[in-house]
Amino acid sequence: MAQTKINSKTKQQDLSFQELIKTAASSAPKHIISVNQFDDKVLLANIFARAAEFKSMQPKDYPKPLQDKIIATIFYEPSTRTRLSFETAAQRLGGQIISTENAAQFSSAAKGETLEDSIRTINGYADAIVLRHPEIGSAQTAANISHIPIVNAGDGAGDHPTQALLDLFTIKEAKGKIDGLKIGLVGDLLNGRTVHSLVHLLSMYKPEIICIAPKKLQLPVKYQDILKQNNISYSLVESWDDCIDDIDVLYMTRIQKERFESVEDYNEHKDQFILNSTELKKAKKDLAIMHPLPRVNEIAIDIDDDPRAIYFEQARNGLFVRMALLTYIFE
Ligand code: CP
Repeated sequence: MAQTKINSKTKQQDLSFQELIKTAASSAPKHIISVNQFDDKVLLANIFARAAEFKSMQPKDYPKPLQDKIIATIFYEPSTRTRLSFETAAQRLGGQIISTENAAQFSSAAKGETLEDSIRTINGYADAIVLRHPEIGSAQTAANISHIPIVNAGDGAGDHPTQALLDLFTIKEAKGKIDGLKIGLVGDLLNGRTVHSLVHLLSMYKPEIICIAPKKLQLPVKYQDILKQNNISYSLVESWDDCIDDIDVLYMTRIQKERFESVEDYNEHKDQFILNSTELKKAKKDLAIMHPLPRVNEIAIDIDDDPRAIYFEQARNGLFVRMALLTYIFE
């Protein structure tokens, strides 16, 4: 065994840098780019079982499978939860972090470096990259050239797979099931990537989905098609007045100001759905109120103490699900 190790080390030292990169490429990295990858209930059950296990443990008892790993968190867009929970997850599992929290301004992107060149460079420093970028498809672009795992932490209005996984985990934890639930998706369903990813995962089950949004911000046809293809009953409405009393999970979202072309357009839609204690009086006693956060004003602060408000628990679950995902990509 020791002999084999010495031989392989000698062999590695003989390889040119390019050959080394090719060798690394042959052991395909496990990227997390899209929720499509999790269209597998066995895999989901495995990830969620790990997350639940981490949640049940004391931090001092966590295993350290990432002891020799460095995770690069490269964020071209702002983040509180995704970046900090990934960084916490990596460190709880024994890994270390290198990070640029404002890559658009403080990485060499500001000098004109392409995403591809940045990814190639970071490949030489880290063992995995958690990437948030404003362009749809950027995580896939990075994965196409990366020899280390890329984790999509949000690509523009595209996908946010790790958020969808923690959302599904939270619904299952709160309700014990997905089938038969009436799930209301509220707000900016056009630009909200968390909703896009969640719709995909929910389509693996049999919930009823009510898309509650202004006409201009309704769920794109592409995601409605996923619901249709999977025979999920869904409706598009512009008000929750006729359905709020019958909903089991209310998934609120922020109107995404940064994705609007004009302030006037944003102002037209920004205050259309505000959940406050008056609205909540009409809702079920066991409603689960979720939000990927950050919120602006769409959930009144006095609702935070209502036992139905589980959005901060949802954010906490992000840590455990991301711990599970980090162990998964390095298996
Ligand atoms: N939900 C979410 O992605 O939050 P952050 O933007 O704070 O990471």
